Amino acid sequence: METQKALLLPSKQGEWVIGTVAVAKPGPGQLLVKIEATALNPADWKIQVYGVLFETFPVILGSDAAGIVIELGEGVQGFAVGDRVFFQGYFVDSARSTYQQYALSNADVTAKIPKNISVEQAATIPACIATPALGLFDRCHEDSAKLFPPWEDGGQGKYIGKPIVIFGGATSVGQYAIQLVRLAGFGPIITTASLKNTTLLNELGATHVLDRDLPPEALLAQIAALANAPIEIVFDAVSLPQTQNAAFDILTPEGQVIIVTQDAIDQEKKRLAPRKRAVVVLGNVSAPGREQTGRGLYAKLTELVGSGAIKPNRVELLANGLAGIPYGLKRMQEDRVSAVKLVVRPHETP
Ligand SMILES: NC(=O)c1ccc[n+]([C@@H]2O[C@H](COP(=O)([O-])OP(=O)(O)OC[C@H]3O[C@@H](n4cnc5c(N)ncnc54)[C@H](OP(=O)(O)O)[C@@H]3O)[C@@H](O)[C@H]2O)c1
Repeated sequence: METQKALLLPSKQGEWVIGTVAVAKPGPGQLLVKIEATALNPADWKIQVYGVLFETFPVILGSDAAGIVIELGEGVQGFAVGDRVFFQGYFVDSARSTYQQYALSNADVTAKIPKNISVEQAATIPACIATPALGLFDRCHEDSAKLFPPWEDGGQGKYIGKPIVIFGGATSVGQYAIQLVRLAGFGPIITTASLKNTTLLNELGATHVLDRDLPPEALLAQIAALANAPIEIVFDAVSLPQTQNAAFDILTPEGQVIIVTQDAIDQEKKRLAPRKRAVVVLGNVSAPGREQTGRGLYAKLTELVGSGAIKPNRVELLANGLAGIPYGLKRMQEDRVSAVKLVVRPHETP
């Protein structure tokens, strides 16, 4: 097959359109993967609506894929044609974007799908686990809390007795953050969400779920009452200005907040607390400087997911393949997605 369907952003702030593009050939160390499922991410609607990040069009977005290896590039070891795999897209290179039917993946940051999960569940993992994995546990990068990773030998249970706060536990990113910090031993794990998601978040490892709509003063008071020690780290998977500022207020004088959007913490707060750190994370295992930690994570992902130590997000499958993505992105933009990952099957595109 030489060509395929892809979801294109044809111009800055343009309307999504299904187009035909070439299927790329895998280079050294790469796999060509038939994408059976790709997941939606808020970054994609933000790029379209705000007109950010790209100046040259058309653009293909998409950061999550799961599917079947159909061709190996030179020198690839450990994979075979027919393997079921999942990987994070890297839309800096459109051949590696995932809103298309075939994409290239670097083999060293690709994992085999364990038998206990579906291809759709596997597609929920890559971007949303990378963000807390790199934001919290990347010892090779300044934009990280540089904690010892729970996927490395000796990492599980390392932070027993340390409290942590995760804002937005029901976000896809937040669900993986909760699971990673649970493996690392943190406790209590205090999170915010709609209270209807309490059972799910408790099952993933949150010890306390607080209402996402609590006013900041009440939220901070409840967190202080629940924590067994001062809060050194907050992972803010919501990262609206109000959550970032609340996170900054909770921290010890040398504490760190990990932010997943742009830094919106008041300058005056920062001036008064110069030793607190606000870390903005770009959660992609292929981003410059992230490769080593990304490879380490991917070497262990199949085992972590296969053993049930890391559970995928719940899936809501959308109709019409790639053509269903604009509808899903609109729902994300309107905050009409709760504790579920929207997924499409690109080969169902009409
Ligand atoms: N920096 C990076 O590289 C990177 C990578 C991936 C994502 N992100 C960003 O991370 C954020 C989360 O992404 P996602 O894909 O995980 O989102 P998502 O799953 O689509 O987010 C939906 C969830 O947001 C929760 N939520 C919304 N407002 C909230 C609030 N004020 N307090 C607590 N929870 C709230 C809702 O929780 P309830 O249902 O419980 O109400 C809902 O379940 C987005 O801003 C995204 O752009 C950044």
